[in-house]
Amino acid sequence: MYLIKKICCIGAGYVGGPTMAVFAKNCPDIEIEVVDINQIRINAWNSDDLTKLPVFEPGLPQIIKKVRGRNLNFSTNVSNSIREADMVFISVNTPIKEKGVGAGETSDLRWVESCARQISEIAEGHTIVVEKSTLPVKTAQTIKDILFSSNYQTSEKSFSVLSNPEFLSEGTAIRDLEEPDRVLIGGDDDEAIKALNDIYLNWIPQEKLIFTNLWSSELSKLTANAFLAQRISSINSISAICEVTGADIKDVSFAIGKDNRIGSKFLKSGPGFGGSCFKKDILNLVYLAKFYGLNEVAGYWRKVIEINSWQQKRIYEIVVEKLFGNLVDKKIAILGFSFKENTNDTRESPAISICRNLINEGAFLSINDEKVTEEDIEKSLKKDNFVYGFNKNEPCWEFQSNLYSAFENAHAVIILTSWDKYKAIDWERVSLSVKSPFWVFDTRSILDIKNIQDLGFNFWQLGFGNNN
Ligand code: UDX
Ligand code: ADP
Repeated sequence: MYLIKKICCIGAGYVGGPTMAVFAKNCPDIEIEVVDINQIRINAWNSDDLTKLPVFEPGLPQIIKKVRGRNLNFSTNVSNSIREADMVFISVNTPIKEKGVGAGETSDLRWVESCARQISEIAEGHTIVVEKSTLPVKTAQTIKDILFSSNYQTSEKSFSVLSNPEFLSEGTAIRDLEEPDRVLIGGDDDEAIKALNDIYLNWIPQEKLIFTNLWSSELSKLTANAFLAQRISSINSISAICEVTGADIKDVSFAIGKDNRIGSKFLKSGPGFGGSCFKKDILNLVYLAKFYGLNEVAGYWRKVIEINSWQQKRIYEIVVEKLFGNLVDKKIAILGFSFKENTNDTRESPAISICRNLINEGAFLSINDEKVTEEDIEKSLKKDNFVYGFNKNEPCWEFQSNLYSAFENAHAVIILTSWDKYKAIDWERVSLSVKSPFWVFDTRSILDIKNIQDLGFNFWQLGFGNNN
């Protein structure tokens, strides 16, 4: 029987930080350390000012306040933490590979591999290694190969490898971790599985824990995300039909969601899915299918991504068309840059491609977001007009922390993220400072058309068939 007294989590990101905070809260007898090579991130996790945590997640600051310094610590001392741990979670970044074999299709495993090598060198006694990051199927085998073939292998050192995929959704991560629909543990070492199972039993009922082999666990994670993404592409494809036929996507979603077999979740049409997982996981599935010669399967899932990109392109083209085919010297207010509400994460945000395309047409963007910082936007959009081929010594976008300032002298506004604040905009106030004619583009279907049209604004809502 393995006794777990100390846990090390490698990677203090969107997954590692919140996950270990909830572990620490529910397992006061286990000492947990979250380690990262990024000193700035660790400093932010250790900040006295809880509004400065690197991840914005409702409910997280309250938990951090309770457990930090009690049984949860954040540190850059990776080696020391691995050495002392009975269980090590790998929770590092696994972006899509940019170069070489599988570029643009499969995950770049360099960070996972480096963790496995470090664990194999440094760990002492028996260590249970848990893969938490979303990974391509069979990555656990890579981790095993590295751990078990290590030059550092001695009789005092041994390992078990488990897959325990995260299903947390940003913005509701704490609830998802406290009350998950299920917890999946994949592996073949019964004692290691029991050790992880016992940790979860501190707050999760046994019936919610599911056990599979390693590969089923890894594939289940990819498949869950692929199915969710597929629902979004499906409803987005119908949104385009609504617009041309006079139907309303909100009514269609509601009507089909009432069918118990379909269910009402993940049927909101919008500018397409973003986030670090959906696209990456489908690409991994496509790559896996292609690798095994299952080209029809690969093509089927690839289409889900293609519809997603098409939806973003379609929105941008509609904006151009409505603004008389010309965006040069026009100011557009962009409301929302995160990939969805209640997160400061911009990875794969639909706002990135839509904004880039608008800037390419010559528009000046005034961007507001509730949690994303100007520095984060800068990483996705270059401010320099020359980059986009416009010979102007002026920036092509600005960040506006004040929502109403973003509207000043604007020709249009595009709502890209459904932050609550945008649902309660004072449109009369807006009407005093914008150009005329003024267009409101609502890609998240959060506005009431009547309020807008009464003020004489032009209004376009995604999936709404009575757009003028
Ligand atoms: C997702 C999975 O939900 C989670 O289980 C997994 O562990 C990680 O990936 P996340 O990326 O945080 O979580 O966000 P999610 O809430 O799933 O939304 C993903 C994207 O889909 C967002 O851009 C969101 O705006 C979009 N979306 C979601 C829709 O467009 N319509 C919907 O009905 C639901
Ligand atoms: P996720 O959304 O999966 O949590 P993030 O990119 O938010 O991904 O976080 C991953 C973290 O893992 C980053 O902060 C990165 O610095 C850290 N990391 C990557 N490789 C290592 C490593 N070898 N040792 C420690 N930390 C690492």
